[in-house]
Amino acid sequence: MLQLLADTPVFDNPKPEALLERVIHIATNPGDLVLDSFAGSGTTGAVAHKMGRRWIMIELGEHCHTHIIPRLRKVIDGEDQGGISQAVNWKGGGGFRYYRLAPSLLQQDRWGQWVINKEYNAEMLAAAICKLEGFTYAPSDAHYWQHGTSTENDFIYVTTQSLTPEQLQAISDEVGEGRSLLVCCSAFRGDADRYPNLTVKKIPKMVLSRCEWGHDDYSLNVENLPMASPLEPAVTASGPALNVRKGAKAVDAGQAGLFDGGGE
Ligand SMILES: C[S@@+](CC[C@H](N)C(=O)[O-])C[C@H]1O[C@@H](n2cnc3c(N)ncnc32)[C@H](O)[C@@H]1O
Repeated sequence: MLQLLADTPVFDNPKPEALLERVIHIATNPGDLVLDSFAGSGTTGAVAHKMGRRWIMIELGEHCHTHIIPRLRKVIDGEDQGGISQAVNWKGGGGFRYYRLAPSLLQQDRWGQWVINKEYNAEMLAAAICKLEGFTYAPSDAHYWQHGTSTENDFIYVTTQSLTPEQLQAISDEVGEGRSLLVCCSAFRGDADRYPNLTVKKIPKMVLSRCEWGHDDYSLNVENLPMASPLEPAVTASGPALNVRKGAKAVDAGQAGLFDGGGE
């Protein structure tokens, strides 16, 4: 790692692992979760990992790929024998999952109104809304209005259109009895309550209702979090997801609890 840093001096003050070890030792116990939301060269995660802590690191810079991921791979493979490795008798092990954040789903237009971010294409938007609403993204070839499912008979339709009463009626007729559909659209006209099998929501409003600002204690308000499932290739709504663990280098982040079954 020292070599890695020496070759590319992008960090003014790389912290010694021993310093981080002291801090982590004082503040946490084995198995605890250590967060560094400004990961830099990844020292916090590397040290936390070697000390048997779980960790989350966040980094917006490209050195996430040039430094942090290579560094943590070396830690996991036991190749990193610098820093505190000798002191803690580090031999390697564990793993991590890597996610690239999607762009913000909403942006404000020039009048300050929240609108859907233009960077989102139809597939990205449908997948993201499914995730937020707790549906499994599963677009159907047979029905244009089936973008995801929550149960056998409950579906979700995501569109940037502004829907007219005639369109809503036609969708309701197609859905029919015995099935229900959550319609997420940019806007709609008419009385949305008149279709017993439809629930109609406006996307900017429904996304905003899931946002939390100004809290001291943030809960992660996203359902259906992507999770590790061992051997499938990975692409998520928020871009490629990479799960790295010793002996299983790059696998999918499927569905489960954030820390179940994968990682360390
Ligand atoms: C001083 S370094 C962090 C050092 C590191 N925590 C350590 O202990 O060695 C700050 C890092 O935060 C990153 N950063 C700045 N703003 C950020 C943001 N909004 N989200 C994520 N990373 C950010 C920078 O790219 C930089 O790599």
